Amino acid sequence: MTSFTKLNDQATPAISVHPSRPVSKINPNIYAGFTEHMGRCIYGGIYEPGSPLADENGFRKDVLEALKELNIPVVRYPGGNFCATYHWVDGVGPKDQRPSRPELAWLGTETNQFGTDEFMKWCEVLDTEPYLCFNFGTGTLDEALGWLEYCNGTGNTYYANMRRKNGREEPYNVKYWALGNETWGPWQVEQMTKEAYSHKALQWAKALKLLDPSIVLILCGQDGTASWDYYTLKHCLLPAHSALSTSAVPLIDMHSIHLYTCSSSHLPNATAPLAAERAIEITSSLIDLARIENGVPPEQLRPTICFDEWNVWDPIRAEGSQGAEESYTLSDALAVAVWLNVFIRKSRDLGMACIAQSVNVISPLMTTKEKTIKQTTWWPLYLFSKYMRGSTVASHVACGTYEGETSPKWLRGAVDTPWLDVSATLGDDGFANLAVVNIHEEKSFETTVEGISSKAQVFTVTGNDVKACNMKGQEEVGIQESSWDGKGSYTFPKHSLTLLRWKPE
Ligand code: AHR
Repeated sequence: MTSFTKLNDQATPAISVHPSRPVSKINPNIYAGFTEHMGRCIYGGIYEPGSPLADENGFRKDVLEALKELNIPVVRYPGGNFCATYHWVDGVGPKDQRPSRPELAWLGTETNQFGTDEFMKWCEVLDTEPYLCFNFGTGTLDEALGWLEYCNGTGNTYYANMRRKNGREEPYNVKYWALGNETWGPWQVEQMTKEAYSHKALQWAKALKLLDPSIVLILCGQDGTASWDYYTLKHCLLPAHSALSTSAVPLIDMHSIHLYTCSSSHLPNATAPLAAERAIEITSSLIDLARIENGVPPEQLRPTICFDEWNVWDPIRAEGSQGAEESYTLSDALAVAVWLNVFIRKSRDLGMACIAQSVNVISPLMTTKEKTIKQTTWWPLYLFSKYMRGSTVASHVACGTYEGETSPKWLRGAVDTPWLDVSATLGDDGFANLAVVNIHEEKSFETTVEGISSKAQVFTVTGNDVKACNMKGQEEVGIQESSWDGKGSYTFPKHSLTLLRWKPE
C-alpha cells in the first residue's frame, strides 16, 4: 500500500517507508509465467530438439538457465487463445503417432510434438508448478475430466493408466486449472455470453471438483471492470455446498483477469499499468459484492485475483498471428516496473499474476538460433522477482503529477499519475526494499527519503533515452549497482527504476 499526496512540480518530493508496518503478504505466485502454443514460444523458444543448445528432452538449456534466474513459481499452459481448439489427447503418447492439426487461434499448424508430458517434464527441470487451462471452445467436459484424471489420477482408471503407459507412474498433482480463456472475446472459437459461460463454468467446476476436490479452479473473468466480471462472480461464487461437491469445498477459488497496456507516447505508456491497479480494486469489490449478495459465509476462503495475462503489448505493432514479437524499449521497461509496483501495492488481493509470455511472444526473453537476448523489460522483472517478496509495507509519496492524456482514456478521471511510482516490501530475509519508478523523461527528482535506517544497496535500470532498446545488437538497458548512505535525500534519475535495499536497524 502506498498513499499519495499531490505536490506542485516546484516542491521537493518526499517518500517515507515503514518496514515495521507490514500491510499484506505477497503471494510468490505473482511472479508466474505463461507459455502458449503461439509463435515461437514453445517451438523455437522452450523446445527446439536438434539445436546444439537443447538438452536430451529437446529443451533449450539457455532458456531454462535464464528463466531459472527469475525463480518462477508457476507457469500457465497451453494458452491463451490456443486452448479453445486444443485437444490434449493429441499431445500425448508416441510422438510419431501424434496428429498434426490446423490451429485456429493463430492460424498455424500444431504438430503436437510438445504436449502435456513434455510440459510437465519442463516444469520439473525449471522447478516450477504447472497451471493448465481447459478447452472451453471445442472441448467437452468429458475431455476435461479425462485430462484431470490423466494428470492427477491415482486409481486403476483409463486415463491414469494412459499416463502410466506413456511413462509416468506417479500423478503430476496439477493444482491450478483455468475454466477457459477469454471466453468473452469475439476472437474466440465458441465465444460465449456471460450467462452461457457462467452456467457452463459452474457445471464443469462441480464435476471437476467431484473428481479432484484438491484442485484450485480459476474462473474466466474479463479485465476486472466489465459486467462480465460482475455476472460471472455473482453466478459462480456460491456458499460451499455438499450437493455441489462432496466435500463442501467452494467450487471457485480464483477469478482471472487480463490486461495488456501500451501507448506509442512515453507517459501514457508508463502510466497505463495504473489501470490494472484500479481493475484489481474493482474486481476485489465485485468479489465481496458477490459474496454478500449470495450469502457466502465469512469463514469460506475469499477468492483471490489471478492476473493470468499481463504485460505491455501493442497487437498492431506486434501482431498475434505473426508471433507477437515485441522489441521493448526503456519506456516499456518502466511500464513493466509500474505493473510490478501495482502488484506489490495490491498484494492483499492477488493470488497469482502471469506475465504473458515467458519466451519470444511479447516476452522479456528472446531466442535466436545461437543465444538468448534479455529485453529491456527483463531487468525490472528480474529485480522484482529477486527482491520484492515477503510482505508489502506501508509507504507514502508526495510529488508532482503527470497531467496529460492517458491510455486507457478513463484512467485520467480515475486516478492520479505521480511522477514517482512507489512500492515497498520487507523480505523474509529481513531486508527492506523500496522500488521507485521516475517516469519523467527529462527531470531527475531530488527526493527526501525517510525510513531508510542504514546504508542501502542501489540497483538502477535506465538508458540514454526512453527509446533505448536491447534488440539492436547491444544491451542499451541493464542494471547499474551502487550504494547510498541512506541519509537525507536521494536523486531518482530521469526515466529510471531505482531499487533501494537495506537491513532495517
Ligand atoms: O498472450 C497472447 C494472447 O492474448 C492470449 O492467447 C490471449 O488469451 C490474449 O488475448
